[in-house]
Amino acid sequence: MQIKSLLENNQKWSVKMREGDPEFFHRLATQQRPEFLWIGCSDSRVPANEIVGMMPGELFVHRNVANMVVATDMNFLSVLQYAVDVLEVKQIIVCGHHGCGGVRAALSHQALGLIDNWLRAIKALYHQSLPLFEGLEGEDRVNLLCELNVMRQVRNVCHTTIVQDAWDRGQELAVHGWIYSLRNGGLKDLNVCMTGKDQMDDIYRIESELKGDEDAVVNQQ
Ligand code: CO
Repeated sequence: MQIKSLLENNQKWSVKMREGDPEFFHRLATQQRPEFLWIGCSDSRVPANEIVGMMPGELFVHRNVANMVVATDMNFLSVLQYAVDVLEVKQIIVCGHHGCGGVRAALSHQALGLIDNWLRAIKALYHQSLPLFEGLEGEDRVNLLCELNVMRQVRNVCHTTIVQDAWDRGQELAVHGWIYSLRNGGLKDLNVCMTGKDQMDDIYRIESELKGDEDAVVNQQ
C-alpha cells in the first residue's frame, strides 16, 4: 500500500462523516468531552476506538508497547493528569491483549534493543509470579503474563498521586483491567476494578498534604 492511499482514504472518510452528520466536525472542533481514558498497547491489531465502537471525541487514548504504566514516564503522567484533572474522565481502562509481542519478548532472552529496558518490568513481574506458571507451556505462558501485566498496570495507575488525589477530592473514578483476544476480537473484563484507596495495598497509600493544608487554613479562619 502506498502512503498516498492513506490521504485518499481520509478524503473519503471525511466526506462520508459529513454526509452522515454535517455538524459532526464543527461540534468536535469546539470541545472534547470523553468519559473514558484508554491505556492500551501500540499493537496495530488493537485499535482502541474501533474495538469498543467509540466515535472520535469519546475516548482519550494513551498507547505504548505492552500497555505499561511507569511512574516516571512524563508522557503517560501528562495524559493521565489531563484526563483526570481537566477532562474529569470517570473510567480508566487498562487494556492488554493476548499474544502481546512485548510480553512475549520479555519472556525470551533475545536482544531487541532499547525496548528490552522498557520491558524489564514485565520480566520482574514474571519472576515474582513464577509459581503461577508451573505446568504452562507456549502461548499459555504468554497469555497468562499478558493478563498479570494488565492487573499490575491497573494497580500502578491507582498508585499515582494523580489518581489518589482525585479520590481524596471525592472525585468518582474507576480503573478497570481488560484483555483483548486477537483470535476472536473479544474483550474480557479481568474483574480487577479499583474505585478507591481502600482497595490499595497500604504501603502505596499517600495522604494528600494539600488536603491537610486546606483543612488547616479552614480551621484557622
Ligand atoms: Co502488545
